[in-house]
Amino acid sequence: MRKNIVAGNWKMNKTFDEAEELISVIASEMERNKPKCEVILCPPSLYLEMATDYADESTILIGAQNVSNHENGAYTGEISAGMLSAIDVDYCIVGHSERRKYFGETDTLIAEKVSRLLDQDIRPIYCCGELLEERESETHFDVVRQQLKEGLFKLTADEFSNVVIAYEPVWAIGTGVTASSTQAQEMHEFIRNLVADAYNNEVAEETTILYGGSCNAKNAKELFENKDVDGGLIGGASLKADDFLKIAHSF
Ligand code: 13P
Repeated sequence: MRKNIVAGNWKMNKTFDEAEELISVIASEMERNKPKCEVILCPPSLYLEMATDYADESTILIGAQNVSNHENGAYTGEISAGMLSAIDVDYCIVGHSERRKYFGETDTLIAEKVSRLLDQDIRPIYCCGELLEERESETHFDVVRQQLKEGLFKLTADEFSNVVIAYEPVWAIGTGVTASSTQAQEMHEFIRNLVADAYNNEVAEETTILYGGSCNAKNAKELFENKDVDGGLIGGASLKADDFLKIAHSF
């Protein structure tokens, strides 16, 4: 179902105590003043169980940052979708550009992760987005089309209805250079049209598409006002309760 979402991707940041403090401040502030969107926190995996315990008492939802493409077995260091489900994780980011770049993740591997998550009723947040050189050579639409075709569009419409898409242009991640409102809307509309082509208009209208990449308390409102931008996947600005809550209150 299409909804407005603000999700915080904490990446590999925060000590356990800092993470607990951040969650508890966000939870108590949200109790006082509830944002009009769904709020998801994606802490490092070691803190997920603590986070889901907090989430039990609040309206916050919890997402993991990664999952194994295997169900179980001899995969040292990996965490399965079943393990995430057992501690009540609601969402999981997959295909983040940092995982594509540093861990060699391909669309095929990411598609397997998506399937493992859906098997466990965990909603994937599927990241796509082009590199700077791809935008400069004007191949950004082709890149995103390919990522979605290989990574997502093999799902049935029923399966796909549980997926959230996050458009994160790589040149905007952690750089302070945000996509302009026009650039974001243009790509989000393109993505929604791709979903309509792969499935149908109704499925496309029901798809939640988030923007990520230097989204902050100052620019969130303008970005979220676009008709095809349903919220944000926030990195750096999700590490401070004040900033993150301001973004969540941009709706
Ligand atoms: P920044 O908001 O720090 O640019 O990171 C975005 C991101 O990668 C979220 O997944």
